[in-house]
Amino acid sequence: KTLPPLRHFLQFNDFTRDEIEYVFARAAIIKRKFKNYEPHFTLSDRTLAMVFEKASTRTRVSFEAGMYQLGGSVIHLTTGDSQLGRSEPIEDSARVISRMVDLIMIRTYEQTKLECFAANSRVPVINGLTNEFHPCQILADIFTYIEHCGSIQGKTVAWVGDSNNMCNTWLQAAELLDFNLHVSTPPGYELEPERAGIFSAERLEQFADPMDACRGAHLVTTDVWTSMGFEAENEERRAAFADWCVDSDMMAIADPSAVFMHCLPAHRGEEVTAEVIDGPQSVVWDEAENRMHVQKALMEFLLVGKQ
Ligand code: CP
Ligand code: NVA
Repeated sequence: KTLPPLRHFLQFNDFTRDEIEYVFARAAIIKRKFKNYEPHFTLSDRTLAMVFEKASTRTRVSFEAGMYQLGGSVIHLTTGDSQLGRSEPIEDSARVISRMVDLIMIRTYEQTKLECFAANSRVPVINGLTNEFHPCQILADIFTYIEHCGSIQGKTVAWVGDSNNMCNTWLQAAELLDFNLHVSTPPGYELEPERAGIFSAERLEQFADPMDACRGAHLVTTDVWTSMGFEAENEERRAAFADWCVDSDMMAIADPSAVFMHCLPAHRGEEVTAEVIDGPQSVVWDEAENRMHVQKALMEFLLVGKQ
């Protein structure tokens, strides 16, 4: 049987614009089938290994439920219950795991660790979040935007808060899919496009005041002040980020059609007020659910190509 060539999804721009658009179109079909209880066993007998070096609710449930719904099976590994936590070399872990499963999802710390794993893997590797990127989440976010508001091309996304893995991935997506990214971070936490591998950021504008970033935006989004792995900076960050809380004034200055997104988990009263995240412009529950639909399309694309 001819299989698609070995591909990984380690960063958003590992895929071309056409491929991302294919994944969105296929995710919409898969979502309809799921809602109608129609079987869609395109990955029967395939096995996904999931490696978690950090905590997760959405990523685990969405990949695990999604793979079962496609007819495949899943193995869940953590640092604590495998040799990964006892310093077996990453290269060796990749060689061994990838001889027994068809696909691997990893949530870890440095992107370089994920890259090292992928370089030694015989099967596709998916980034389930690193310190630098969270591409599956941005797939879900843009798919959710399209569902609610139509094409994102030419629109403006306002990012308020930390220039973290989510923000880096938004920048890659903006450059690839042609929308504008407004970023407002506290001083000292500005987005450095080079960290996202973007050396000429044509779609990025940074603002000192989060209100300015939100003015006219079609999507307003934020994330925790302190990401996993940075807990030692928690106190310092709580002080620095106090004014970077998405509130109803920021939503009011955005475009009237604007939606609010958050990858979750959220901290009401820190990066977003309860009024906004629980309010009428918030699409965070669709956004969370859509992780599963886009990742099913992604896994299918990597393993069996276009349907
Ligand atoms: N948004 C997201 O990745 O959530 P989890 O950390 O729960 O997987
Ligand atoms: N930026 C957050 C996202 C969690 C899903 C983190 O890395 O912890």
